[in-house]
Amino acid sequence: MAMLEITDLHTYYGNIHALKGISLTVEQGEIVTLIGSNGAGKSTTLRTISGLNQARNGELLFNGLSLRGIPAHKIATMGIAQSPEGRRVFPRMSVLENLEMGAFVRGTVDQSDIARVLELFPRLKERIDQKAGTMSGGEQQMLAIGRALMARPNLLLLDEPSMGLSPILVEQIFDIVTEINKQGTTVLLVEQNALMALAIANRGYVIQTGEIVLADTGAALLKNEAVRKAYLGEG
Ligand SMILES: Nc1ncnc2c1ncn2[C@@H]1O[C@H](COP(=O)(O)OP(=O)(O)OP(=O)(O)O)[C@@H](O)[C@H]1O
Ligand SMILES: [Mg+2]
Repeated sequence: MAMLEITDLHTYYGNIHALKGISLTVEQGEIVTLIGSNGAGKSTTLRTISGLNQARNGELLFNGLSLRGIPAHKIATMGIAQSPEGRRVFPRMSVLENLEMGAFVRGTVDQSDIARVLELFPRLKERIDQKAGTMSGGEQQMLAIGRALMARPNLLLLDEPSMGLSPILVEQIFDIVTEINKQGTTVLLVEQNALMALAIANRGYVIQTGEIVLADTGAALLKNEAVRKAYLGEG
């Protein structure tokens, strides 16, 4: 059984048909990436999985259990954590307080989880008492990922973790995503940086105006001519 199995999923915003029958799977232990242009439906896919948007049709199974109709706060306790687009940290709270909030769904803050996050992101350790809103964009992005990890998710949903970061930080973030995965967390990664995302992913899906148009291994998609033209800025 796949960890996540999505079949013919349709999501609307009013009468805007944002997801037009998405099907995808994520197996335990994988990094799967979803790539596509602005407005393709990447965030909507993640938000439908985490319960922030409700699907109108289709199937959404997590370890065989249907997530449809389950509210977001409940899904968060089921082993799915999302790092949202645009690094939504709590600006007036310190780094430590933000991390503690991430553990809220578990009902307890485990010091070993904080230690693990600070080991992955040494920068956060140096700034542990700093107000999150005063940190740089890259630091806030690290905090958003760290906060999601505090829930000890089985499935981590990352929405454009590299957005707006300098090339060196982008590399660091992708290395850290790989490390998080090696430590046992399954990852569904939404990215516009298709080159980097496909390079670290086991498999990838290309989404275009609410539909999956290509699905293959990361390596095969990297070589795919249509992908290279549309998403890697070639031709
Ligand atoms: N709150 C909303 N109300 C109405 N339409 C929305 C809303 N959020 C998204 N949409 C529409 O749904 C479609 C998919 O949007 P989505 O945010 O999922 O795209 P995306 O692939 O994440 O894009 P980006 O790369 O720009 O983040 C778009 O056409 C968008 O305009
Ligand atoms: Mg988005």
